[in-house]
Order: sequence, then C-alpha cells, then structure tokens
Amino acid sequence: MPSQQKALFLDSRQGSLTVRETDKPTPGPGELLVKVEAAALNPIDWMIQAFGVFVEKYPAIIGSDGAGTVVAVGEGVTAYAVSDRVAFQGTIDPVQKTIKGTFAQYTTTPAKFAMKIPANVSPESAATMPCTLPTAATVLYNQDESSPSVKLTAPWSESGKGKYAGKRALVLGGSSSVGQYVIQFARLSGFSPIIATASPQHSDFLKSLGATHVVDRNLPSETLQEEVTRIGGGPFDLVYDAISTADTQAVGYALTGPNGDFVVVSPAVALGGDDGPQKRVHMARGLLTLPGNDVVGAGLLAALPTLLESGDIKPNRTEVLSGGLNGIVPGLERLKSKQVSGTKLVVLPQETV
Ligand SMILES: NC(=O)c1ccc[n+]([C@@H]2O[C@H](COP(=O)([O-])OP(=O)(O)OC[C@H]3O[C@@H](n4cnc5c(N)ncnc54)[C@H](OP(=O)(O)O)[C@@H]3O)[C@@H](O)[C@H]2O)c1
Repeated sequence: MPSQQKALFLDSRQGSLTVRETDKPTPGPGELLVKVEAAALNPIDWMIQAFGVFVEKYPAIIGSDGAGTVVAVGEGVTAYAVSDRVAFQGTIDPVQKTIKGTFAQYTTTPAKFAMKIPANVSPESAATMPCTLPTAATVLYNQDESSPSVKLTAPWSESGKGKYAGKRALVLGGSSSVGQYVIQFARLSGFSPIIATASPQHSDFLKSLGATHVVDRNLPSETLQEEVTRIGGGPFDLVYDAISTADTQAVGYALTGPNGDFVVVSPAVALGGDDGPQKRVHMARGLLTLPGNDVVGAGLLAALPTLLESGDIKPNRTEVLSGGLNGIVPGLERLKSKQVSGTKLVVLPQETV
C-alpha cells in the first residue's frame, strides 16, 4: 500500500480548498483505517469554508460523510476486520475545534461510531447516510433525559414499530437528505398521515418512501399552511422542519398541535409565545460523538444493517460528480447556490488524478 494519498485541504480560515498529496494516516487504538470509496457533500462543508465556523486548526481536511472499505484496524478493535464495508461521519471536536474529514482517499475513524454496510448498498449510497440519517433519527428516538428529543420509542426496538399509528406527522423539506430519512422513520414509527413539503417533481419519489401526501413547498406560506391543515385534518403531533429558515420555522411551529413536538435542524428563531398548551421545540443534533447521543446512536448503528438489507430504510438518491476530490469545490458551489434538488452529491476519492 502506498504511504501517500490525496486529500482536499482547507488551508486557512475561509481560505481556498486545494487537493494535494499528504501522508496516509495510521489507525490509533479503537480506530479503523478506511479506504474512502465515496464521500458525500453536505451544507455544513461549504459553511465551514465560507463562514470560518466549527474549525480553528488549519490546514484541515473537511468532509462530513464517507464510505469505503476497512484496510487496517487499530489496537483493541474487535467488531471490525479488514475488508469490512463501512460508512462514517467526519469527526469534529467541538472543544479542540478540529476536524478529521472524509474528503481524502484514506482516513481513520473511531470504530465505535462506524456504520456497517450490507452488500446491497453501494459505497455511493452508503455515503449519503452518516451525517443526515442520525440527524433524522436521534432527535426522534433519543431517551436521554438531558438531550433535546421527542423521545419516541425507536422502531428498531421490540415495541416501537408502528407504535404511533393515527398520529399526524409533517415533514417540511421532505426532499432534502434529512427530510427523506425523517419520512422513512415516521413511516416505520406508524405515523399517518405523513405530509411532506417539496417541489412537485419529487411527489412520487417521496410517496415511495412513505409520505402519504406531498404539498408544493413553493406555495405562499399562508396557502401552504391552509393546504397542509386541510389534508391533515388538524394540527400535527410531530412537525420536523428539515430546512429551518425563519419562514419554515414559523409555518412549522404554527402547524404543531397543542402538546405536539416541533423539530428544527438549525437554532430556533423566536417562535410563537403565549398560544395555549405547550409545544415542545427540539434542535436536532446529528453528530454521533456528542454526549447524550451514545445510547441512541449505538441502537441505531446496531439496527441499521438490517434496516438497509430489508429495504425498510433506503439511502438517498445520488449524483456522482466527476474528477474525484476535484469535483468537491464545484459541487459545494452548487449546494451553496441551492442548485441541488432531491439528491445527494457524491465524489469518488479514488478517481482523483
Ligand atoms: N443539526 C444537525 O445536526 C444537522 C445535521 C445535518 C444537516 N443539518 C441541516 O439540515 C438542513 C438540511 O440539510 P440537507 O443536507 O438535508 O439539505 P439538502 O439535501 O441539501 O437540501 C436540499 C433540499 O432542500 C429543499 N428545500 C429548500 N428550501 C425549502 C423550503 N423552503 N421548503 C421545503 N424544502 C426546501 C429542496 O427541495 P426541492 O428541491 O424539493 O425544492 C432541496 O431538495 C441544512 O440546513 C443542514 O445544515 C443539520
């Protein structure tokens, strides 16, 4: 195995992103060395570069989603072996302000937080999950008292599947990567109806994932609110706002029923106020390494291979960009300018020239 590899570096705060050679890392205790076969692009990747947030140590290899094959294991790793297929999150340390990202041909990752990927899922599809699938699931199913969560019983536990039959769910931004996973978990949990907002061309696709109705997200807010209420037949027990702009939050909060749960993916703006029985607001936190996410994360990671094998959970659709790691900069530009719709942009780092 060559000792060098290519990786995409962010050289300085808000600096440029450049592909260059660097040493291949060595797995430490509890870590996997992974040959990264696919890496997916997320909004947080361009935000780290454009706004200079989350990371303070440079040069840094960014990237939140990776999938590939284990090529070496560190001391103490027993759950994985060479040749296993995994997907994994880039590791952000919120205290040290460092990142060990996935935009590289090889990287190390803690075995504890890796996802085992069954044979029916390609590396491209697997790479769509690490960041956004836990963002959907942990805030719904975390039982940790100190964590923001709806505290539903997870559908992968014995009594959880279909448990919320008859409860209404609304997913704002159903065609986003997070939204597609929320729809599927809501279906597994038994919610009905499950109404999603999205551009109309995604209607059939979102219904195939479990949405019972899809409402055009481009309608004026007032009309959208009326339409969703008419179809839903009343306020919602669960509203998951996978977009969380000021506009979507206002709509989502208004449509959350008394004693209902409203989930946001970005900090909540000023919402509601004195409007009767309490609505609970929760901020999703998709990083599996965060304190409080350990138990729900372990349950999710244990259940995921079966959920994928059975087709109960389907990874996002993908668009593979050309040029390996060199495809990331133009891809992030497209994400930033909102030119990505209902699909996940993916690069194949081994194709980098
Ligand atoms: N808190 C956390 O831990 C965490 C983790 C991951 C992501 N996030 C955040 O979650 C958000 C979604 O991330 P993502 O990767 O899922 O995004 P994404 O897939 O890039 O989102 C693109 C989609 O957003 C939809 N969209 C845009 N504006 C909309 C609106 N007003 N109403 C309904 N749909 C709208 C578009 O729908 P159409 O094409 O159908 O028009 C498009 O399909 C981002 O803000 C991200 O930063 C948070």
